[in-house]
Amino acid sequence: MTAASRNNQPDLRDLLAFYASAGVDEALEEAPVNRFAEAAPRPAERAPATTAPSPPTGESAAPQRSTSFSRAETGERPNAAPAARAPSATATVPDEAQAALARQLAATAATLDELRQHMAAFDGCNLKFTAKNLVFADGNPDAAVMLVGEAPGRDEDIEGLPFVGRSGRLLDRMLAAIGLDRTSVYIANVIPWRPPGNRTPTPHETEICRPFIERQIELVNPKVLVNLGGPSAKTLLNTTEGILRLRGNWRVHTTASGTAIPAMPTLHPAYLLRTPAHKKLAWRDFLEVKAKLRALG
Ligand code: URA
Repeated sequence: MTAASRNNQPDLRDLLAFYASAGVDEALEEAPVNRFAEAAPRPAERAPATTAPSPPTGESAAPQRSTSFSRAETGERPNAAPAARAPSATATVPDEAQAALARQLAATAATLDELRQHMAAFDGCNLKFTAKNLVFADGNPDAAVMLVGEAPGRDEDIEGLPFVGRSGRLLDRMLAAIGLDRTSVYIANVIPWRPPGNRTPTPHETEICRPFIERQIELVNPKVLVNLGGPSAKTLLNTTEGILRLRGNWRVHTTASGTAIPAMPTLHPAYLLRTPAHKKLAWRDFLEVKAKLRALG
């Protein structure tokens, strides 16, 4: 190491600290990529939008993504941190064929275990390629209450479990306040892969992942659904209303098979950490949940 490079070290440390405080805590590529310069896939490379690929049995289960590769092909461990990858895999934006495949994979999962396997094998959401783990669920699949958040953060990505970071610890305290814990609730997210740097998932990513969470709710079949935050409420309650208007009022989530599940939209724990004055609102919502559970027996 030269004297000059040693002198630069504090600058580099400061820069890294700045990145970390700004939420930039993942190095995605060795070199910058000019996304605007990437050529759009040629029509022949795209799977036809109207033809859903065959069901997830045997070989044909591999997602039909011509610009991508399957984890089986690369010999990569499921849930392993992404190693060297073809740049096109991270650059490709999921298209309608992937949404159709997600719907098919979700619909053909007969159990939660199967659903997890189908999601782990699905390569149609670009978030998978920057995430370390699939964050499927935590808690008790037989629980009467299912809580759904937005997307995993850094801690959840590392552990492969939802709500294990700061907001998760607050959520645990909120649950304890109404006599619940992770043995008596089931927790999942709309998006099961961490968006890089905790950015907001795009509407396209949400649409790609929506069939999975909808099927997960259908398979758990809880008595009560709790939507943690606006994105979960908007995605699963089919509304564009803001969470501050939605919260505290019972809505209904209707599953694909037509089951109507009472749903309570409430404030996201991460929001409550930033806005503690609103904790009292979430407290009221959780009391509503407790009362509903009692009423439903
Ligand atoms: N925020 C979410 O919405 N989900 C998590 O799992 C963690 C934080």
